[in-house]
Amino acid sequence: MKVDVLLGLQWGDEGKGKIVDVLAPRYQVVARFQGGPNAGHTLEFDGIKHVLHQIPSGIFRSDIQNIIGNGVVLDPIVFKREIENLAKYNLDLVSNLFVSKKASLILPTHALLDAAYERSKGDSKIGSTLRGIGPTYQDKIARLGLRVGDVVSPNFKAKYDKLVDAHKVILDFYSFDHSAVLAQSEENFFAAIEFMKQFTLVDSEYVVNDALTSGKTVLAEGAQGSLLDIDFGSYPFVTSSTTMAAGACTGLGIAPSQVGEVFGIFKAYCTRVGSGPFPTELLEETGEKMRKEGREFGATTGRPRRCGWLDLPALKYAIMINGVTQLIMMKVDVLTIFDNIRVCTHYRLEDGTVTDQLPYDLCDGVVEPIYKDFDGWQQSLDGIRDFEDIPAPLLAYVKFLEDELNLPITFISTGPDREALISREASAIAG
Ligand code: GDP
Ligand code: IMO
Ligand code: MG
Repeated sequence: MKVDVLLGLQWGDEGKGKIVDVLAPRYQVVARFQGGPNAGHTLEFDGIKHVLHQIPSGIFRSDIQNIIGNGVVLDPIVFKREIENLAKYNLDLVSNLFVSKKASLILPTHALLDAAYERSKGDSKIGSTLRGIGPTYQDKIARLGLRVGDVVSPNFKAKYDKLVDAHKVILDFYSFDHSAVLAQSEENFFAAIEFMKQFTLVDSEYVVNDALTSGKTVLAEGAQGSLLDIDFGSYPFVTSSTTMAAGACTGLGIAPSQVGEVFGIFKAYCTRVGSGPFPTELLEETGEKMRKEGREFGATTGRPRRCGWLDLPALKYAIMINGVTQLIMMKVDVLTIFDNIRVCTHYRLEDGTVTDQLPYDLCDGVVEPIYKDFDGWQQSLDGIRDFEDIPAPLLAYVKFLEDELNLPITFISTGPDREALISREASAIAG
């Protein structure tokens, strides 16, 4: 069997949580491979809305093994809170949730370091979620970090103290006060570590590969988005992990040859939280309408998301680096309010060159988007489940994108709920 990978093709918040939940019944294992509590993945069903940060979005479906893989940076305090928030749903979490011993631990000082680094950057700050993601990955790469498997070691506290002492030196260098915050969060941290020990801590690379060998289906759930990737995103305005398909290999311990379908998720427009270039950003009334209609406020931080039209050069780039095999278009219902819908097909660069490729200096150079306009459909998409039934202007928009991107759009999402989905499979079955 192969591992299918599902990931965001833009700047995050494409709707990954919803689609993982929708696809989960097809899989026996759902595994997160990177990121940490910077993610906020929203699921809605039966009138319930739930946001997950570190726990895979297969958790609401029974009989699915959910794995937090080695590529994840895990905050035990957030983990405990997430588990406690799930208590009301009577899920068998201890049996269905496994944590890699090789996942990195976020310590309370990592979040303080995040804040110190951001403060020192002033106006050029990244706009981090301040969850300690960057500093934790930094310690991992510097070979200083603590991992989940360390919590059972008799000298875990000594290892913790050593790392925290090093962090305090850096915090002092940045004149960042840490005493008061740290006293409280340290107590919570060790309580959360004890709490975490009731879960099965595993060598998840064996769990995933054994699952494949025994014929089980595995879905790897990405966090953030391709344009926030540490190598290929709009550096330095990125997150600190490999958000692209290759990250599923290093973040779970699977061979590249084991990757099957790569589901690429994108919104029918674009959003971005935090700083960094955003060529199609709408700063005026249209952007405000989009934000209101799409309820574009961060699932983790509540920050307003910047909004703009769909950006094809950026989308083509994300498809290329991920080897996407199927596209899933989200939040199409949000565009229903517009009578004219724009898609950026190319950029005009400062020297007048027209290109559909992402320039290296997207950060500093000025790129002017070139748009193609489409008629809106201006009719509700509620209740439509089949491709055959979508309004003609929407069909024209979908066909244009499929031709440009050279891939099928297999699902169109028309609302936050699990059921609000138009499926090409439904047409195939009906036809
Ligand atoms: P993720 O981080 O990729 O999982 O996405 P988020 O959960 O952060 O953000 C997506 C938001 O859009 C959530 O509030 C979802 O409930 C909502 N959502 C998902 N799909 C749709 C859709 O098709 N239409 C609308 N209107 N909202 C959607
Ligand atoms: P999901 O999985 C949207 C953004 C932050 C910031 C940058 C770096 O819900 O799609 P970090 O906290 O990683 O240091 O922040 O990345 N960012 C996200 N934006 N969705 C996310 O996750 C994000 N995770 C991080 O806003 O610009
Ligand atoms: Mg999100």
